[in-house]
Amino acid sequence: MIVYLNGKYLPREQAWISPEDRGFLFADGVYEVIHSYRGKLFHVDEHMRRLKNSLAGLKISYSNIPEIREAALRLIQENGLKEDATVYIQITRGTNFPRKHAFPPANTAVTVYVMAYPITPRDPERETGIPVITTPDLRWARCDIKSVALLPNVLAQQQAIDAGVTDAIFVRDSVALEGSASNFFAVIDNVVLTHPKTNVILPGITLDVVLELCRKNNIPHLEKPIYLNQLWTAQELFLSSTTMEVMPIVQVDGRSISGGKPGKVTRKLQTLFKEYVASLP
Ligand code: PDD
Repeated sequence: MIVYLNGKYLPREQAWISPEDRGFLFADGVYEVIHSYRGKLFHVDEHMRRLKNSLAGLKISYSNIPEIREAALRLIQENGLKEDATVYIQITRGTNFPRKHAFPPANTAVTVYVMAYPITPRDPERETGIPVITTPDLRWARCDIKSVALLPNVLAQQQAIDAGVTDAIFVRDSVALEGSASNFFAVIDNVVLTHPKTNVILPGITLDVVLELCRKNNIPHLEKPIYLNQLWTAQELFLSSTTMEVMPIVQVDGRSISGGKPGKVTRKLQTLFKEYVASLP
């Protein structure tokens, strides 16, 4: 496997970063995850726009987006990734010594890392749907930044696995916000609902695709908060992300949702999503 690190294409075993990298010391960095279908990057412009917003949000001076795009494409080719694959991009505020919280000198080089690897589509789970739990949202107030500081997300997903389910939904002020690494949707009164794109969720690229599919296919949809107490009577619940696409939820905190089966609207959106991906040049 070939990866990209600070201007070089290297075998993965030869890619090393300093223990003084601020990504390691402070989680002082941002990332992106892009799906590659048949060797083509899905909605790469949108991912690059979000990457720029994340960098700006953390005041990391880096604007060489063409470098990232080129590395992503070249890694797909070099690694022969002709089917489903994931491109992971991480940029940190670089390396400096001695350790100090405040920013390093302005001329400090950022660390740029890109890797691409095959993924197994989660088709079996997309057929059956997944069980989830709810968990208090312990994250900071800028969840719209795709920062590598993911400890609450890590703990939430592990809590789910320890509870014998697949994932966890963050709840803050009685509102079900998003999954540990995905956006969250409910179908209530035949309307597809998802949280407005504010500072308390990540503005998902897949979320936007789902909303656009609703728009084009006359499926009623609204961006508004989904309250925890609405989950028990919701017709359907589902998650969206780069790696999950449209993932039905069939159980929350041990209670069955939509009769324990993926709902009709969720199914329709899964089909529309697949058709959309297949239609891309
Ligand atoms: N996660 N919300 C959170 C907290 C996320 O981490 C993600 C993505 C999403 C969905 O965004 P998108 O549709 O752009 O993938 C929502 C990625 C896949 C990850 O951390 O691996």
